Amino acid sequence: VRRFEVAFAEFVGVRNAIACSSGSAALHLALKALGVKAGDQVALPAMTYVATANAVVQCGAVPVFVDVDRDTWCIDPGQVPADVNGVIPVHMYGLVADLSALDKCDRWLLEDAAQAHGAAQGGRQVGAIGDAGAFSFYASKIIACGEGGMVTTNNDKVARSARLYRGQGVDPTRRYWHEVQGFNYRMTDLSAAIGLAQLEQYPGFATCRRALMDLYMQRLDGVVTFQPRTDESADWVAACLLPTDADSAQVAERMLLRGVETRPFFPPLTTMPAYFDSSAQVPVARELARRGICLPLHCEMAPKDAEYVCDELLGALR
Ligand SMILES: Cc1ncc(COP(=O)(O)O)c(C=O)c1O
Repeated sequence: VRRFEVAFAEFVGVRNAIACSSGSAALHLALKALGVKAGDQVALPAMTYVATANAVVQCGAVPVFVDVDRDTWCIDPGQVPADVNGVIPVHMYGLVADLSALDKCDRWLLEDAAQAHGAAQGGRQVGAIGDAGAFSFYASKIIACGEGGMVTTNNDKVARSARLYRGQGVDPTRRYWHEVQGFNYRMTDLSAAIGLAQLEQYPGFATCRRALMDLYMQRLDGVVTFQPRTDESADWVAACLLPTDADSAQVAERMLLRGVETRPFFPPLTTMPAYFDSSAQVPVARELARRGICLPLHCEMAPKDAEYVCDELLGALR
């Protein structure tokens, strides 16, 4: 585990990396370590995986759902209320959220980088831009070890606190003596060994993912809309918007019948029972969820597999 932490810290370009049992655990640990407490207001995008919001609630804090930007599909910095205690931008599908505006305020910033290993903004890697970053190594992620997560931070106090909470709050110098009420969020050495091996292969993963993404973007140009990718973004899944008149559920069903598994976009959290809020104004997240579909993208795919996916998508849209 220690070796994976050192290698991952070097990869991201931060002083500290704290390995843990999942991306969800990494978010929870980072929030605890940043000092988030009951009643704090935490802004996050309405369109994200539910773990981002759950971690906030697990600290007793209040999630403040913000609509996403029409182009980046990440949190719209212009809509983040001024009075929140902190913000969790999510680097959606590998594209880095616009942190330039959020970075300047004096509230804390926790990057949810679960979907964006290796992505960067202005030369700084995700997980090294905000006060802390949280990564997931779940099986489907760019770097995967079955289940696992990592907190990254340049702040030594935050790192110490995250380590403390990870191991039931035990005092590092005194056995069975607990400084805070913590959790068992440890990563196993077995998972870390897989993570290390994956990390070594990252350059190859990134190249093959980018080549498949380029192929999708060329073949589907003018038919679907992709996020505006940059040389610095990562490629997690090939997420795209179908034409406005297409029925994304029907397209997904047709493609599945032809052997192509796709994923829907994350519906806005405020539209589902766990976080239902009928007053939430998130029109962009709603539209993206209606039109979005994620095409398969992983390094076991050959270019001809991606060609097949494109043929089947075009066929399903006819
Ligand atoms: C944006 C985001 N945050 C957090 C997580 C949680 O990670 P894990 O499944 O490892 O707990 C995920 C997982 O998909 C995610 O996509």
